[in-house]
Amino acid sequence: MKARHVTSLLTASLLACVSTTALAQVQPWMDTSKPADQRAAAVVAAMTLDEKLSLVMGYTDPKELAKQPDTDVSPAIKADVAAHAIDGAAGYISGIPRLGIPSQWQTDASIGVRVEGMERTALPSSLATAASFDPQVPYQGGVMIASEARLSGFNTFLAGGANLAREPRNGRNFEYVGEDPWLAGQMAGSLIAGIQSTHMVSTMKHYAVNDQESQRTTVDASISPEAMRQSDLLAFEFVYEKGHPGSAMCAYNLINGRWACENEYLQQKVLKHDWGFKGYIMSDWGAVHSTVDAVNYGLDQMTGWPCCGDKVPYYSATRLKAALADGEITQKRIDDMATRIVWPLFEYGVIDDPVKVGAINFKANADVSQNAAEQSLTLLKNDNNLLPLKGVKTLAVIGGHADKGVLSGGGSSGVHPVGGSALPVEKGWPGTAIWMPSSPLNGLKAELPKAKISFTAGDDIAAAAAAAAKAEVAVVFVTDWKGEGFDTTLDLKENQDALVAAVVKANPKTIVVLETGGAVLMPWLNDVPAVVEAWYPGIRGGAAIARVLTGKVNPSGHTPISFPASNDQLAHATIPGFGMPGDSAVHVTYDEGAAIGYKWYDVKGFKPMFAFGHGLSYTTFAVTDAKAEAADNRITVTGTLTNTGAVEGKGVAMAFVSPADWQAASWEAPKRFAAFQKIELAPGKGQTFTAQIDPRLLATWEAADNSWHIKAGTYHIRLGQAADDLTQNVDITLPDSRWSAVH
Ligand code: BGC
Repeated sequence: MKARHVTSLLTASLLACVSTTALAQVQPWMDTSKPADQRAAAVVAAMTLDEKLSLVMGYTDPKELAKQPDTDVSPAIKADVAAHAIDGAAGYISGIPRLGIPSQWQTDASIGVRVEGMERTALPSSLATAASFDPQVPYQGGVMIASEARLSGFNTFLAGGANLAREPRNGRNFEYVGEDPWLAGQMAGSLIAGIQSTHMVSTMKHYAVNDQESQRTTVDASISPEAMRQSDLLAFEFVYEKGHPGSAMCAYNLINGRWACENEYLQQKVLKHDWGFKGYIMSDWGAVHSTVDAVNYGLDQMTGWPCCGDKVPYYSATRLKAALADGEITQKRIDDMATRIVWPLFEYGVIDDPVKVGAINFKANADVSQNAAEQSLTLLKNDNNLLPLKGVKTLAVIGGHADKGVLSGGGSSGVHPVGGSALPVEKGWPGTAIWMPSSPLNGLKAELPKAKISFTAGDDIAAAAAAAAKAEVAVVFVTDWKGEGFDTTLDLKENQDALVAAVVKANPKTIVVLETGGAVLMPWLNDVPAVVEAWYPGIRGGAAIARVLTGKVNPSGHTPISFPASNDQLAHATIPGFGMPGDSAVHVTYDEGAAIGYKWYDVKGFKPMFAFGHGLSYTTFAVTDAKAEAADNRITVTGTLTNTGAVEGKGVAMAFVSPADWQAASWEAPKRFAAFQKIELAPGKGQTFTAQIDPRLLATWEAADNSWHIKAGTYHIRLGQAADDLTQNVDITLPDSRWSAVH
């Protein structure tokens, strides 16, 4: 942290102590009793044009910035960035000190503060926390990472990744929250709500249809408006309603021939007009391709690199003033951009509660992360109750660097953990994996003090098999690295399939622990009795894995994605541009429309390896007494979840809806996920649950009049514990209803 930055924060705190009443008389926008709309309008009215323009352009790299001509970036801004931007941070936007507008210090991403040179607490990957099926988990995680961010000097979080896992090979699926719009909305929305509750602004990103990383900065995704509104955009709509992010980050790609950051349909029509979004759209880093189109089609703030090498940034004062003088953009729009940027700073308390750099309680924060992991680890298979490990005398732990730590995902969300990476990290882009310093081997030794536990690295398959043969039980750790900027295949790399096959041949009592950023194929599955999906489990992942394997924690995660049984089940045989040199212009057509994940499997009649929602426990649960009532188009569903086994545990009741007469048409698939509730239950105990079903999940979006439409008819409300485990059904008849998609 630079000394000058600390000084400026102290000055801000001192200013905050000045009588707020006195300040509010001179600067009415400082009157905290006024609504954010009025405060934002008042402060923008007091700004000069240069001040407004200073808000719309942010910077990542002071060195690049120094090269910009003084006409494009004023010497004052250059000096401010050089003095106050935090080294290695994602971005910085100068404040307007005379008006009390703080600078915006931006940090990545959804699992914690990512800054080279700062060691911080990492949550499990967002896909992992989605597997908790408990919105409190991302909410508490959001509060924790935001408290670290504030104590590190940041007031803006580039979090809230919510692109659907449409393409299971997408390199960034670990940063997102699964394949279903409702689940994604509840989980990413809760993370954002947690972050913003601490007086920060969060983004939701990457808006939208940024569903592959191959050629991410040039790929053009074709998809019909109907499919988009019922899939990728519906997820963002639910995220927005749950989390109310102050900012949305537009994506790198094109959608239907238009760059995301100048896509009138996505930005102006859907986000700002239909959903009533009052915050600002910021560009992904380097995702701006114009000045006039970007301004007029909805982009409010350009952050990232000053532009492309030495060229003038698209949102530089020079370009914006020239466009204004030529009448290509209006003063009204510039005012709107500035208002949108300051509005969330008032609304979410960034101005009234300035950040203060301070000491972080890393121990307490690691506890939050460990709890998230323990809620999220997913027991995929457990034949003959091989797990939990009880009374085991000899254990062979094999592979996955389990003696050192656990894997995390690569790219801009890669947190440098407290204690440092457990394995050396190569710098560069995307560099190599960061390993969280929490060893599952040490965790197992702590939980099973009487057992003899060996460790074999796994690169020598014969040695691994020999170690497994000598032990009562073998635990093989396999890892698969995903990261920003590249996609992957679904195969485990580096001979890990052969390793598992050899180990289970040597010892049939073999447990596989997966550390993956999404689905992988498991050619050895029939032979392996127990499989735990640990995802990327965060800074205390090793301890969490050990506690689940030994039964200290009863697993309660459910998979937020389907695991395909083979590549033949994928909607797309290949990913356009996969493995090609960067920036090749490619095109992807999402003709599966909104039939993503379990919907695709249903449409095709495929049986996945593991269905969406699947997740076992050391106890068993039953869903009974399903009832549903409709008042207008609102359905309330109730049921009872009972722990039918012998130990305490957490079960998840899930509801899916489907029209009785489904035919492949605008309803993309035979059923949609519509509600869920996680409940902790002692053995033999039951609890009723109640959930409202969002009417959009019973409807189709219709372009002709921009409306949601429920067709009259019978609908099945199906309850159970996974997409392929729906034991209860209630039929309900709904009248025809239609309502505007405008909020
Ligand atoms: C990523 C964003 C990230 C930004 C800033 C981009 O490359 O796509 O998710 O927030 O960089 O680091």
